[in-house]
Amino acid sequence: MNILLTGGTGLIGSALVKKWQQQHQLQVLSRTPQKVQALFGPDVTAVANVADVDFNQLDAVVNLAGEPIVGKRWTAQQKQRLCHSRWDLTAQLVNAINTASTPPGILISGSAIGFYGAQQQQLISEDFNDSTNEFSHQLCQRWEEIAGAVKSPTRLCILRTGIVLAKTGGALQKMLPPFKLGLGGRIGTGQQYMSWIHIDDMVALIDFLLQHPTLQGVFNATAPHPVTNTEFSQTLAQLLHRPALLPMPAVVLQCLLGEAADLLLTGQRVLPTNATKAGFSFQYDKLQPALAELLN
Ligand SMILES: NC(=O)c1ccc[n+]([C@@H]2O[C@H](COP(=O)([O-])OP(=O)(O)OC[C@H]3O[C@@H](n4cnc5c(N)ncnc54)[C@H](OP(=O)(O)O)[C@@H]3O)[C@@H](O)[C@H]2O)c1
Repeated sequence: MNILLTGGTGLIGSALVKKWQQQHQLQVLSRTPQKVQALFGPDVTAVANVADVDFNQLDAVVNLAGEPIVGKRWTAQQKQRLCHSRWDLTAQLVNAINTASTPPGILISGSAIGFYGAQQQQLISEDFNDSTNEFSHQLCQRWEEIAGAVKSPTRLCILRTGIVLAKTGGALQKMLPPFKLGLGGRIGTGQQYMSWIHIDDMVALIDFLLQHPTLQGVFNATAPHPVTNTEFSQTLAQLLHRPALLPMPAVVLQCLLGEAADLLLTGQRVLPTNATKAGFSFQYDKLQPALAELLN
């Protein structure tokens, strides 16, 4: 297949490129095309603009690009960057797909479980319709809405992605240093849920959506067994043979991160109902073996 990826140089995208590189013809849209060549070599075509791509020749588009959600304080300006880096590119892709005479068969477009807002112990499937209206919801809701303008015959699969656990990069690598020093612990009350997914399952799920031409709609990209933050912290500490005794108080995190602290202090208990119904099986459905594999 001929596939265009945005965000192909990122955590999920680069793992996907590595899986697909030998099977498909890949074009990666990047703000830094040289990075694409440096990462993947000459087999993968780097493109700098949507206008440089012939959408009549594409079979699939995978859209994962966006300013990283964590790392910087959510100032008004940073919120604009978080939103527009996703919304504007997605609108350009949808427009190019809708105006192609032989459009690609599928658009797989990103979103996040932040769509649901801060939820407590509530189990959440894709049809949950009581999202709270904080920034993460507004960002994802509009992102999905823009992707939703893609017209038939292109099928749309939206990925409401949870916390992706990987060996390089992502949330786990940010958590590891304090835990390795024995300075890790729960965050806030520790009762908030963490809906996680192993990077291999994330890649496998995207591949599964590509391969199954009847699938469309929203898919929670999370493992079937979300855990509380306390359970996550304890499991990680046990695997590292370290204590997990030092809680991170909510107020400290709020001082450090501002509004973005909410991502860590609140959570969602999400189930991958649509993926499971469609027959997708997770290689890592429980946290302990997933973390054990990543820390190995
Ligand atoms: N990783 C997670 O745990 C997680 C959880 C929920 C949702 N998601 C969503 O899934 C998508 C992929 O996640 P990821 O972790 O693979 O992302 P990532 O590693 O942060 O990479 C995303 C890519 O987006 C591009 N990008 C970064 N800042 C940008 C900006 N200001 N404007 C335009 N493009 C920009 C970069 O590509 P170039 O530098 O090549 O242009 C980057 O490689 C993201 O949209 C993310 O929000 C991820």
